[in-house]
Amino acid sequence: MGIHEAYILPAIMDVALAGLRDEREQLVGRAAGRVLEVGVGNGANLPFYPDAAREVVALEPCATVLARAQKRLGKQARQQPGIDLARYAFVRGGAEQMDFEDDSFDTAVACLVFCTIPAAQRAASEVFRVLKPGGKLLFLEHVRCPPGTMQRVQNAINPAWKVFACGCHLNRDTEALFSDAGFAYNRIERYRNPKMSPPFAAYMIKGEALKPV
Ligand SMILES: C[S@@+](CC[C@H](N)C(=O)[O-])C[C@H]1O[C@@H](n2cnc3c(N)ncnc32)[C@H](O)[C@@H]1O
Repeated sequence: MGIHEAYILPAIMDVALAGLRDEREQLVGRAAGRVLEVGVGNGANLPFYPDAAREVVALEPCATVLARAQKRLGKQARQQPGIDLARYAFVRGGAEQMDFEDDSFDTAVACLVFCTIPAAQRAASEVFRVLKPGGKLLFLEHVRCPPGTMQRVQNAINPAWKVFACGCHLNRDTEALFSDAGFAYNRIERYRNPKMSPPFAAYMIKGEALKPV
């Protein structure tokens, strides 16, 4: 784990993703029951979980980043007494192989993470495995844009971007990854988000997919 990945990129992410606050709140506002958030990063979503999310397991492979998320939530809880720290658990690990039981979560959250997970298809299958039948995957992801000039730009920049952004891919087809893992889309919005920059990283999907009963 290099200094860039552990310290510099998380600080850049805070600034670059600051415009997504409302979308984060809307996304995790639909979480309920026992919740798994994969690749929690700095923990930007954590203060927004509603009371209906009785337990929130925050998974993150980078120890420094995970510690930062936990520290930040503690600080926010001191300022906002409504945040109940007891319902959060911080677990170090990658989403490709999780030590959680089958059918053990009601909700999974994937926010700007499937771009970065090295074995993304395997991780999608793991998320599917640990969700209960009828459980939902809430997602907000930047993805490959439709065919055309911008997609060619994404493909051209991707090798350098992956180095700068610690493994993040600009051109992942995350919608297909989730379907291939077995998820059925309940709701999906495909859009270009003006709050995301640079423009070649602004193509997004957000919505809800279900593990069929
Ligand atoms: C762009 S950041 C997004 C962080 C956070 N989800 C957010 O919304 O701000 C991508 C995160 O994915 C994490 N990540 C990388 N490999 C992973 C893996 N195999 N499983 C789960 N998360 C991973 C990174 O450590 C990083 O925290």
